[in-house]
This record gives sequence, C-alpha cells and structure tokens, in this order.
Amino acid sequence: MPLKDALVNRHHEPIDLTRRRTLQGHVKMARSKFEEIRLALTERKMQTVEALSDLSGAFASAMVDDHDQTVGEVVACNTEMSLTDRSVKLGVLGMAIGTELDLDGPSVLEIGMAGLLHDIGLYSMDPAFSVPGRGAFSEEETWEYRKHPVVSANSLREVSDIPHSVLLAIEQVHEQYNGAGYPFGLEGKRIHIYARILNVCDTYLRLTLGTGFRKALVPHDALGFILHQARYGSFDPQVIHALLRTKSLFPLGSRVELTNGKWADVIRRPVEGYACPVLQLSDGERFDMQENPDEVVQPTCDPQRNQGRLSIDAMKNIRWNPADELFFDEE
Ligand SMILES: [Fe+2]
Repeated sequence: MPLKDALVNRHHEPIDLTRRRTLQGHVKMARSKFEEIRLALTERKMQTVEALSDLSGAFASAMVDDHDQTVGEVVACNTEMSLTDRSVKLGVLGMAIGTELDLDGPSVLEIGMAGLLHDIGLYSMDPAFSVPGRGAFSEEETWEYRKHPVVSANSLREVSDIPHSVLLAIEQVHEQYNGAGYPFGLEGKRIHIYARILNVCDTYLRLTLGTGFRKALVPHDALGFILHQARYGSFDPQVIHALLRTKSLFPLGSRVELTNGKWADVIRRPVEGYACPVLQLSDGERFDMQENPDEVVQPTCDPQRNQGRLSIDAMKNIRWNPADELFFDEE
C-alpha cells in the first residue's frame, strides 16, 4: 500500500506545539544515535539496521501524522547546523518525496535510512569535509571529496546488515540524471530511484543553506532555480514534480510577505495546485490563500537564516552542475 494513503489530513489545523516538541526530540535522538554509529564504525563493530530503521520510522510516523508540519519544521535550514542535522533533513525530505511518488512504507523507510547515513563516510575523511556549507574546495580537495559516497557505502557494507538498496542509494546519491555527477557518472534510470530522490533533496538543501561565500537562497528561489536547471536534464523529472507537490511553490516552513507588508510563515501545502498554500500570520492567525484569491504574496528573507534572493535573470541564465559549487550575486 502506498504510504501516501495513510497520511492524516490536517489541512484545517494549526501548527501543534506538542508535535513540535516531539519532532525536536526525534532530532535529539538522531544526534545521539549518530554518535553511537560513528564510534561503532571507527571501532569496526557490527551494527544492525534496527536502530536506524527505528529512527527513520519515528520521522515517518511523524510525517504520517502531520506531513506538512513535519516537512516544514524538520527540513528548514538553520544558519549553522551539523552534518547530523543535515542528514536528518535529507532523510525526511527524501521520505516525503518517496511518499508523494506512491512508494510503500518499507521503501520510504529505506530512503530515510539512506538519507540519514549517506554522508557517514565523511567522518573518517578530512574533518573540514563534515562541516555543511563550508564553501568551495580546491581542485585536490574536490577529488578527495568526491570519493565520499563510496567511502560511506564501503564503511557500512563491512560492518552492518544494511539492505543492498540503501547501500546503492548512498553510493549513488551524487550521481546526476544527465550523467554529470560523481563518483561513476551513471545516467538516467541506471541510478537507483532512492538516489534520484535524494539527489534532488540534497540539491535543495545545499541551495537553502548558506556557505562561507554566499547567502542561503530563500526556499522559493531555490525551488525556482532547480525547476530552471531541470531543463538541462540534471534531475529525474518525476522527482522534480514530486518535490513541487511536497513543498509547494512557496515551500513549507518558508516566509512570505503579504501586500500589507506583514509577514507570514507557510504552514500547509495547497490541496490543489502549487501556488496557494496556507499561511500563519505573525499574530498567529491562519490564512488560506486558496480562500483569498486576490492576495498576492512575495517570498521574503528570514533574517535569522541569513537568506538572500536570486534574480530572475540569474535563475534563467546560470547553467549549473549540482556536482559543483554555485556562485552568484545575491539580489
Ligand atoms: Fe554527500
């Protein structure tokens, strides 16, 4: 049965504070679990998948209980975050997209596991590699860095009973649909579906996280940029479509400005289409754009997340390979 059929419809409900605390608890649990796995890998101790599937299971049930709040709150990037936090975001967004693509529960859990573990090999490499958004690498560092999907998969292969599909996804997460990715330059459907999903999620997270030399893109612009880049075949089109359905054009968890100058947070995706989500105004009031068709909102920078906007020109004219860093002048 597709997991999508199990999602509870909470479209008319506000953000729940108890659920927020539960989600924060899951993230905390992920941090300690990761520390355990990291130590076990260094000591080459056998690991079973149970603990990991419990962890992705916890996020999956949060998502079933309230998709929009879980995706909105867990996936939003903060200015500073650890590799663990980023891996949790990747796992949760990957599970949401897998759900949107009508995958069943066990497959969605495997995507979550692959997302959680995909960068585990970075811990045994140059410590600078495990700081998300550290910035541009030298040519030599880039060569070294591009080995990390294989290092991650190999270190897990030796000491765990993780399913083969999860290991494949970890190894292929940086492959691009048009063959421009690494480490093997695989193309199209030769890349495992989990990896095609996680690759799009990874790109979205990279764009919405700032680096040492550029601001974070506001989520709306990151999504727009990905949609423009999709023309060059870098991503699986069905995954791009699912990303749009999952996050909506004004992504869950992002901030918008109304015509009266007030700001609001996007709390629920639209029931239909992509452009009219439900907002929560700064005074706490719920505002469904579908019921207010005359209201026009603009994405806006969240000052606490050091965000910048990308001009339409840049969006249209930059041709970018996600295997490289992105340089642009912010608006
Ligand atoms: Fe990676």
